[in-house]
Amino acid sequence: MELAQTVPWGRSFDEYVRMFALSARDLALPIVGCGDGPASFNAEMTQRGHQVISVDPLYRFSAAQIAFRVREIADEMVEGARRKSDAFVWTDFRSPEELGRRRLEIVERFLADYESGRRDGRYVEAALPELPFRNGQFELSLCSHLLFTYSKLLSEDDHLRAILEMCRVAAEVRIFPVLDMFDGGRSPHLDAVIERVRRAGFAAELVRVRYEFQRGGNEMLKVTRAES
Ligand SMILES: C[S@@+](CC[C@H](N)C(=O)[O-])C[C@H]1O[C@@H](n2cnc3c(N)ncnc32)[C@H](O)[C@@H]1O
Repeated sequence: MELAQTVPWGRSFDEYVRMFALSARDLALPIVGCGDGPASFNAEMTQRGHQVISVDPLYRFSAAQIAFRVREIADEMVEGARRKSDAFVWTDFRSPEELGRRRLEIVERFLADYESGRRDGRYVEAALPELPFRNGQFELSLCSHLLFTYSKLLSEDDHLRAILEMCRVAAEVRIFPVLDMFDGGRSPHLDAVIERVRRAGFAAELVRVRYEFQRGGNEMLKVTRAES
């Protein structure tokens, strides 16, 4: 289920902390970030002495290739945000231009860390729904702006398989946001996926978080093993 249509555009440590309501305790756990792309979360976590492995099919490419692709799409991303500016809440970023500048800074931070992180095994080329990790290897699995975001391109079954795989490798899964990026509403798969995840023996709940850039996008889906 690799998506050629997804764009390499990354978020920061501060955004991850707020999107996933990460506490100091959470940050100290072993974390896997699924679809982290060119986010600076891994670079900034590592600088702070925390443990995170990022997984993305993008990591088959070199830093130079990723940098080229990011620069290629940057103007288009800013233009898209300007065209659809009503779909966003302009408090963290005051304008599409500031958004573009900050996103490029984040990608630069990722790129500066990428080659050494790849050698250290912190950036792993892999794609959901198959993760190259042992059962229970992590405490927390995060997925930002991939599942639900691309609901037009990924089926309900794709979502279920991806979430169950994240549950296999981690005790807790957090997914943000639960909105579709194309129409801005809640993912049409959300209710059915929650029900099927529960039937598979997990607890699933929507949790309000203190982050909202896509208008209405201030909830994450949290999945844990149900108490027996
Ligand atoms: C919109 S970006 C989000 C990047 C990052 N999580 C963030 O929020 O800043 C979506 C990412 O998902 C990655 N991706 C696409 N298909 C994937 C798959 N099957 N498994 C894991 N990642 C995938 C893309 O390569 C891209 O880096």
